[in-house]
Amino acid sequence: MANLREVGKLSRKYGVKFIIDSARFAENAYFIKCREEGYADKEINDIVREMFSYADGMTMSSKKDAIVNMGGFIGFRDEELFRQASTYNIIYEGFITYGGMSGRDMNALAQGLYEGTEFSYLESRINQVAYFGTKMKQYGIPVLEPFGGHAIFIDAKKILPDIPKEEFPAQTLALELYIDGGVRGVEIGALMADRDPVTHENRFPDLKMVRLAIPRRVFTNNHMDYVAAAVKNIFERRDKIKRGVRIKREAPIMRHFTIELERI
Ligand SMILES: Cc1ncc(COP(=O)(O)O)c(C=O)c1O
Repeated sequence: MANLREVGKLSRKYGVKFIIDSARFAENAYFIKCREEGYADKEINDIVREMFSYADGMTMSSKKDAIVNMGGFIGFRDEELFRQASTYNIIYEGFITYGGMSGRDMNALAQGLYEGTEFSYLESRINQVAYFGTKMKQYGIPVLEPFGGHAIFIDAKKILPDIPKEEFPAQTLALELYIDGGVRGVEIGALMADRDPVTHENRFPDLKMVRLAIPRRVFTNNHMDYVAAAVKNIFERRDKIKRGVRIKREAPIMRHFTIELERI
């Protein structure tokens, strides 16, 4: 919350709009309650209200903290900005009041916003992520700490230190996990960071993480055990993985969604 407050002040000082990517807003509210001084006795809803009070607007991918399978929305404090943003909505998404979503999906979303901000729900969700992280730690797998609210991040740099950064070690690890265990994580690294628009060099070459995001209400702890074991299998044969991947084809922007790679 202190961070949001400071960003709010900064944005007002420089006259720049402060828009919150709200996909994980409820998990963040939970962490504010559990970790930040002065919030332990506050309700999640009140924390959420304060979080958004500092912002000019928000975008929401409802697949995350609204616990639905599709959809999203945007919100603005300034009505004029809302009108401007609505202009192209009808062409690209659907009428402004539904944005391409069906009534059923909007009802589910509204319900999800209530349920997704219940403390007991958040607690069980975030405890499952911690259960998974703890399991991996017990296997000696290097993971980022403190554990987050939606995912466990594996430090691929420590698992595949010999693969040169040009061969995308974190992507290599993610692929191994998919081929070997059928588990689809995502590289959070140089491949995702894309190229510098001016120099066309790969950005953040030293960022080498694999994110294992856990969808809500879909998995049991047995699934967590399975995924941890799948990572462990690769971890135990990490010395045999010597080479990475090279790019066959990439899109000019946001390449990681559609990139084609081949093993070296
Ligand atoms: C904070 C945040 N914003 C946005 C997204 C992407 O949402 P979408 O796939 O609906 O564009 C994610 C996905 O994990 C996310 O974590």
